[in-house]
Amino acid sequence: MMAMAMASKSSDMIESPSERHSGDISRRKILSQSVTAGGIFLFCLPSPATALSASEASKAYDSYASNYDSLDGGSASTMLGIDQARTDLFKQAKGKVLEIGAGTGLNLGKYDLSKIESLTLLDISPGMLSMAEQRWKNMTIATSSESFISFVQADATSELVSKFGALSFDTVVDSFSLCTMGNDGAEKCLSQLSQVVKSKEQGGQVLLLENSRSSNPFLARYQDATSSAAAEMGGKGCVYNQDVEFMIQQSTKGNLVIESQEQYAAGLFRAFRCTVW
Ligand SMILES: C[S@@+](CC[C@H](N)C(=O)[O-])C[C@H]1O[C@@H](n2cnc3c(N)ncnc32)[C@H](O)[C@@H]1O
Repeated sequence: MMAMAMASKSSDMIESPSERHSGDISRRKILSQSVTAGGIFLFCLPSPATALSASEASKAYDSYASNYDSLDGGSASTMLGIDQARTDLFKQAKGKVLEIGAGTGLNLGKYDLSKIESLTLLDISPGMLSMAEQRWKNMTIATSSESFISFVQADATSELVSKFGALSFDTVVDSFSLCTMGNDGAEKCLSQLSQVVKSKEQGGQVLLLENSRSSNPFLARYQDATSSAAAEMGGKGCVYNQDVEFMIQQSTKGNLVIESQEQYAAGLFRAFRCTVW
C-alpha cells in the first residue's frame, strides 16, 4: 500500500542539496520491498559510497545481462512508477539521439521513433548491448535506413567527446547508469554528455532518469544507511542515494541547466530535462 501510494509523481517537494553520496540496493525488487517494510535503520549514519570502474562495470554487467530484464524491468518497476517515468520522459527524445548506459534496451519501446532521425545505443558492456540489439531485432520496426540504429561499446565517462565530437546529438538520454559510475564517474559522464549535445539554441536536450536520495527525510536516511550494502548485495553497483541535482550543477559548472524535474516514488527516482546554455 505504502509503495503504491508513493508511486505517483510529484514535482513540488524538492529537497535542497547537502552532504551525502553513498551506496545502493538491488533496485526495483529489493527497493520496493524495503520501502514497504518501512524504515528500520532510519537513524543510522550514512555509509560510504561504492562505485564500479568502467572495466568492473563491463565485466559485472556482462554477467547480469541475461537476467537483467526480469530483475529490473519487471512488476516492481511498474509498481514504483519507473515504467511510467520512462514513458513520460523518453517520448520527448528527438533528432539524433544518443543513449548512454543503454543496457538491454529497456527504453527502446518508449521512444517515439517518428521523431527520431538516428539512435545510438552506447554501453560499456558488450553483453548488455547484445541483449539490446536482440530486443531491437524482435521489435521488427520498419525504419527508413539500416543506419538508423547503432550499438557502440564505449566508456561514457571518458570517450563520448573523442568518439562523436562536440555538438553531435539533439538528445542525450540516460537511465540508471550514472548511479553505477560513482560520484566521480557520474560527474565526468555528465561533463562529457553536456559537450556532445547541441546547445539549447540549437534545440539540444539531455533527458536523465536516475535513482535519487528521497525528498522524504526518513526514506533518505534509510537509503543512506543501506545503500553501500545494497549495491554489493544485488544492486549491481548502483548507488541509489545519489544527489543528481547537485551532480549536474557540480560537474558542468552551471553549463547544464535543469529545465524541469519530476519526482517518482517520493523522489526515489527523478526525471530531469536539461539543456546546455
Ligand atoms: C543499471 S544499468 C541501466 C541500463 C538501462 N539504462 C536501463 O535503464 O535499464 C547500468 C548500465 O550502465 C552501463 N555502464 C556502467 N558504467 C558505464 C560506463 N562507464 N560507460 C558506459 N556504460 C556504463 C552498464 O554496463 C549497464 O548496462
